[in-house]
Amino acid sequence: MPRFLASLAAATGLIASTGAWAVEISISCSALGKEYEICKQGVDAWAKKTGNTVKIVSTPNSATERLALYQQLFGAGAADIDVFQIDVVWTGILGQHLVDLTAKAQGTIDDHLPTMIETSQVGGKLMAMPWFADAGLLYYRKDLLEKYKRPVPQAWADLTETARLIQEGERKDGRGDFWGYVWQGRAYEGLTTNALEWIASFNGGTIVDAKGEITVENPKAAEALKLAAGWVGTVTPEGVLNYTEEESRGVFQAGNAAFMRNWPYAWALAQGADSAIKDKVGIAPLPQGGADGRHAGTLGGQLLAVSKYSKKQNAAIDLVMYLTSAQEQKRRAIEGSFNPTIVSLYGDADIARANPFIGDLVDVFTNAVARPASVTGDNYNKVSNEFFNTVHLVLSKRAEPDQALSRLDRDLKRIKRSGW
Ligand code: GLC
Repeated sequence: MPRFLASLAAATGLIASTGAWAVEISISCSALGKEYEICKQGVDAWAKKTGNTVKIVSTPNSATERLALYQQLFGAGAADIDVFQIDVVWTGILGQHLVDLTAKAQGTIDDHLPTMIETSQVGGKLMAMPWFADAGLLYYRKDLLEKYKRPVPQAWADLTETARLIQEGERKDGRGDFWGYVWQGRAYEGLTTNALEWIASFNGGTIVDAKGEITVENPKAAEALKLAAGWVGTVTPEGVLNYTEEESRGVFQAGNAAFMRNWPYAWALAQGADSAIKDKVGIAPLPQGGADGRHAGTLGGQLLAVSKYSKKQNAAIDLVMYLTSAQEQKRRAIEGSFNPTIVSLYGDADIARANPFIGDLVDVFTNAVARPASVTGDNYNKVSNEFFNTVHLVLSKRAEPDQALSRLDRDLKRIKRSGW
């Protein structure tokens, strides 16, 4: 472009700092908790730096609903969203619609947690950049454990007992809507993550193993589901059958539950100025199953990917690299307790001050249990749907664990025959 035109365009904001025409990028960001606000701060900073503009498209909170929306958009080859926030379990399902970022990410790949890089790859190609890592955690009320002189529960039996004790005590004190334990029981992807934790904590496997064998029909898995079904209506409200992350956080943050299962994001909110439980919360690994069980937190997290149908791929890739950079991951960890995927940030003193649990629970994050997404590939969503629907039947006492798991085994075998 002639120089006079370029300076005119720059003066009027039509030219980005890269010398290319300024563009508008649209990005889908989740609005869970503070995610929208924190995403907006990040994209605004990039827009200011580059001279481009960014539009945020907010999407449903439920992972299952969000995936359905993305599949619709991609199915239509829509170019209206350039950058997608995707779940760690979707790379295999959506990879065919995404730009291969391997070359662009050269030199930075080794900075990230290896598990997060694995979840971002399909057939060795990097189809997304890791943005933040999640692992299921146990939130507890420090003040109530002290009041009732109970330790942080190490096994599910202790949790059940302590939850019952505190619930009874608090109700006697006139808090009629107080509950022992809240978690995510709606029939959606979040229930898959909760139920995988219960089953893995009893050493009952991961639904499908690393070789692709279906392992879910086993006595330990049945025992785990029986335990969880026993909570519903006793230490857990029946309403949990329709809870996602935000409903359980609502109950816990209002001061109406002793324990909560949730992801790291709930920490920054629990510590917020308007929180009823500020400074009263502790975080621990989720309890283990029986005596020979283990502490198991499901690996979750979010990635950023560029749509193949985007007409502004260069700027979109630049935004993804900016948002996933160490500087931005550090800001997000401090503001929103989003766990970094960049390993060196786990030693960062400012992050450790804001979120002490990140350093304390480093084992939970490094040994988090992965869902069988890579091994089942683009069938993962079907597998997960069958699984969470089965678990939901058991939780709502419409099926016995053994029978439900044996039916699930049959259904998964049918999917496997056509798939992985
Ligand atoms: C969180 C996790 C994601 C998981 C989802 C389930 O967003 O990052 O991996 O699938 O919760 O609700």
